[in-house]
Amino acid sequence: MDKKPLSEGFGAEITGIDARVPLTKEACSFIVAALYEHGAVCLRNQSLEPAELQAFGAHLGTPIHHVEEDLRVEGEPGVMVLSNADGRPERQRNGGAFWHTDLVFTEEPASFTMLNAVAVPASGGETLFAGQLAAFEALPGRLKARAETAVFAHCYEGRTDGSMPTVYHPLVRPHPVTGRKALYGAAGTCIGVEGMSGTEARGFLDEIGDHASDAKFQYAHLYRINDLVIWDNAVTLHSGPILEEASGAADTRIMNRVSVRGWPQPNLRQ
Ligand code: SIN
Repeated sequence: MDKKPLSEGFGAEITGIDARVPLTKEACSFIVAALYEHGAVCLRNQSLEPAELQAFGAHLGTPIHHVEEDLRVEGEPGVMVLSNADGRPERQRNGGAFWHTDLVFTEEPASFTMLNAVAVPASGGETLFAGQLAAFEALPGRLKARAETAVFAHCYEGRTDGSMPTVYHPLVRPHPVTGRKALYGAAGTCIGVEGMSGTEARGFLDEIGDHASDAKFQYAHLYRINDLVIWDNAVTLHSGPILEEASGAADTRIMNRVSVRGWPQPNLRQ
């Protein structure tokens, strides 16, 4: 097993692991440690069936069933498909095309999310990541002081009609394992800030959101077929691309996706 940087300061490419076979304790530990160190990792040439992806994900945590049942793969409820092919609905094509961190609108959000590239377009189709450890470190003093005490309200798709709960998370969180402080959930599904009026909250959310997704914290992952990309949701924001419906192989993008809960120590899970 080995790793090398994907970019300066964010992400790593891991070699020497076959995700189709049960992970050894050492391999699992290697991946988890790399995730905590680099925020995201990529394993190339991993052609996984949905069941294999779900089994791989289960080494890192507990696979989460998507809140919307029709987005789950039949028989493999921890897997969902993101696709712009076969007349799939807009939310399956572009549902992740905004800055967010996964399942922040739940009490126990996703720790890791992974995408396995089944089909990649000839150009484009990147996932953008924004490193939130660096974003926290770079906050100007005035904003940092406000951020340190802020608690954000999140709701799935902003559905505040009572069909989805509103859930609160501090904007600045020590990482559950490493303890390093990062901005958390600084974009996407935020609907308010505890103790702030609507207008004040909107201004603060915009300012923090712009800072958190600034180009200087970004890494764009351009997929190769069969890439398996995994990221740590506690220290990243991500955004999928905006895609038109595919007209053929050259613009088709299909990703199988698994999110998991739970925070493995680098040397504990098997
Ligand atoms: C996601 O938000 O989980 C998907 C991102 C992507 O499609 O690149």
